[in-house]
Amino acid sequence: MIAVGCDHGGFELKLAVLKYLEEKGIEYKDFGTYSADSVDYPVFAEKTANAVVSGECELGLLFCGTGIGISMAANKVKGVRAACCSDKFSVEMTRLHNNANILCLGGRVVSNEKGVELVDIFLNTPFSGDERHQKRIDMVMAIENR
Ligand code: RB5
Repeated sequence: MIAVGCDHGGFELKLAVLKYLEEKGIEYKDFGTYSADSVDYPVFAEKTANAVVSGECELGLLFCGTGIGISMAANKVKGVRAACCSDKFSVEMTRLHNNANILCLGGRVVSNEKGVELVDIFLNTPFSGDERHQKRIDMVMAIENR
């Protein structure tokens, strides 16, 4: 199950990604927003992030205008490793090295086509499992407990 959320700036891109998920038969839960009306991205970041850290969903996808605000908000939720990306290399690396559990994209940064391509890479790239990367991830996650 994939958790999905957006604000108005990411709404169109989210629709394109939902179409991709449906075509691929990938189950998702959409935490809103459900229209292009102006809303506050922290609301949707928190709902989506909670679904990921609770284990209800394995990974999350968040969309706002830049991907930045919604990633900042998501990263405030304990257990989240949200990565704001706009290129294929970064998306692949954030799964391989950071084991990112949420991908954040900007609807005003990437085209719908590029966004879907980035989501496809994110969902299909496993964490490398390398010891050195796991150690660094553990160090990152320890920060939120201090
Ligand atoms: C909304 O206008 C915009 O600020 C938001 O979508 C996002 O880009 C924030 O980081």
